[in-house]
Amino acid sequence: MCGIVGYVGRERCVEVLMEGLKNLEYRGYDSAGLALQLEDGIEPLKRVGPLVNLAGAVGDLGGRNGDFFRVRAGVGHTRWATHGRPNEANAHPLLGGEGGRVAVVHNGIIENHARLRRELEARGRVFRSETDTEVIAHLLAERIEEHGESLREALACCVRQIEGSFAVAAVSAEEPETIVAARHQSPLVVGLGEGENFLASAVQALLTETRRFLVVENGEIVELSAEGVAVSTLDGEEVRRGACEVDWDAEAVELGVYEDYMLKEIHEQPAALRKTLEGRITTEGEVDLSADLPEPFIEGLREIERVVVLGCGTAYHAGLVGKHALEKLCRVPVEVAVSSEYRYREPIGDGKTLVVAISQSGETTDTLAAVEAAREYGGRVLAVTNTRGSLITREAEAVLLTKAGPEVGVAATKTFTTQLAALKLLALQLAHLKGLRSAEELLEIGEALRLVPEKVEHAIELSGDATRTAAQAFEAARCALYLGRGVSYPVALEGALKLKEISYLPAEGYPAGEMKHGPIALIDESCPVVAVLGEGLLREKTLSNVQETAARGGRIVPVAVEGDASASEVADHVLWAPEVPELLWPLVASVPLQLLAYHVAKGRGLDVDKPRNLAKSVTVE
Ligand code: AGP
Repeated sequence: MCGIVGYVGRERCVEVLMEGLKNLEYRGYDSAGLALQLEDGIEPLKRVGPLVNLAGAVGDLGGRNGDFFRVRAGVGHTRWATHGRPNEANAHPLLGGEGGRVAVVHNGIIENHARLRRELEARGRVFRSETDTEVIAHLLAERIEEHGESLREALACCVRQIEGSFAVAAVSAEEPETIVAARHQSPLVVGLGEGENFLASAVQALLTETRRFLVVENGEIVELSAEGVAVSTLDGEEVRRGACEVDWDAEAVELGVYEDYMLKEIHEQPAALRKTLEGRITTEGEVDLSADLPEPFIEGLREIERVVVLGCGTAYHAGLVGKHALEKLCRVPVEVAVSSEYRYREPIGDGKTLVVAISQSGETTDTLAAVEAAREYGGRVLAVTNTRGSLITREAEAVLLTKAGPEVGVAATKTFTTQLAALKLLALQLAHLKGLRSAEELLEIGEALRLVPEKVEHAIELSGDATRTAAQAFEAARCALYLGRGVSYPVALEGALKLKEISYLPAEGYPAGEMKHGPIALIDESCPVVAVLGEGLLREKTLSNVQETAARGGRIVPVAVEGDASASEVADHVLWAPEVPELLWPLVASVPLQLLAYHVAKGRGLDVDKPRNLAKSVTVE
């Protein structure tokens, strides 16, 4: 959670920091702040609430003081509160030292902060916030003031004392035009420029500035100046590392013609799916992941006897969808687990267990810990992530990237459907290696998967007006029930999650067959029922559950295969999705549910991109 950014170089620091924070706001928006290096010290500027509040303050201050926009170095922060309420005192930067001559921004949690705080207070340091972060500011100031250390040396000493997860960046009035930073478990990248250098929690903060990045590793200190970047170990030994180039476009984080990122990202799904499938599936429908997965890993797949899929939130739902394809095509037992539960379960497995860890950000703490637990029993870990170079890619034996591009909206949309596509590719690859299904059957599914981007395009066309109209059924709703069976059940779960996270309406996803075991008591005209139908025998069964619901006064919103006459019989407004083979149905059926949630939230006047209390990357437990 929280985003940090740093800049050193030319007289454009404020502009670069504000643009960087704008692109990191998805990580938290409880407050935002800057620490700028002026000639006579450090100027902190903080505001509670979204970044626009800080932007207003920047405008006011810049109007009064022209020097403000000539600052050459500083750090910035956008906060998702963990310790201490979202108020100005708790907003970052946190200051330490005589007259606030050291400033710190931090993403993560300092677990031993209470003890460190007591010790620092006993030594005379005065705390002004309730945050865990403030201990870092005081530890740095103490080392500089009382031990004569440089900022780099002080940070190395501090890193040895703090426990937990952190990406931290600091500036000191004693060392103009210098930023030092370090990380442990929280992400941090350095962006390389000419005569200027950058720092951020994620590359998308800096795409308008550079495509060349250095990934900072645990146990390293980076020191940035306009002229260069020095990486060293905590003991001060130089670390040499080549830069990597990223291929994301700066436009990917611009709104363009769209009102919100969520809407833009829903419409980007066909392109994102094309990119995710490209080069991994031939025109005949044959899947080949040899360019992605190392040869020994692919060979090891032949021996796999069991699959465990790990994820949180939307990624967990993707895993539930993936289970159907993996079990059906590969005939291996698949367990799908919520990472936060799995990590504490003393899980069972061995070297013949394939562990598929799904995380769009690649930095979700619980999923990383669950991966660690699986590695302990020898599980073969494959990461499915949207973020090249993220923490999870370094913990896994192999990586299958989804190529959705940066997702800014907090609600996952294009990263969900590309996760589904990646899991289908994996299931087809594993099925081929295991040889339990005929080549013809696999080619047929592969061919249909190759055509999914066009189907999703069509799903978007079918959903526009229909979802806007269906959203009216939610105007006076007090809750909603989402029902589905088989592959449609996880689609219902994901649809309910989308609705609750952006519209704040209580929404439950349920297996349709479970309805009579409790949830049916919820049904009245103020609890719309979204029924994900699909095809086959299970569709008939869900339909009969829907009829029982209609008989009790429930308002039904079916999601059905285009032209399904029986769906029109149970409801006035049907959300249509194109016909595809059953295993691919979640890819198209999810689209109307994303748009339905979007229109319900917009109808309530809510910010769909930044729902309250949430952050996109959950880097704390
Ligand atoms: C869903 O819209 C949320 N963004 C959330 O459930 C998310 O999927 C979850 O936090 C997992 O994130 P990850 O994929 O980055 O690990």
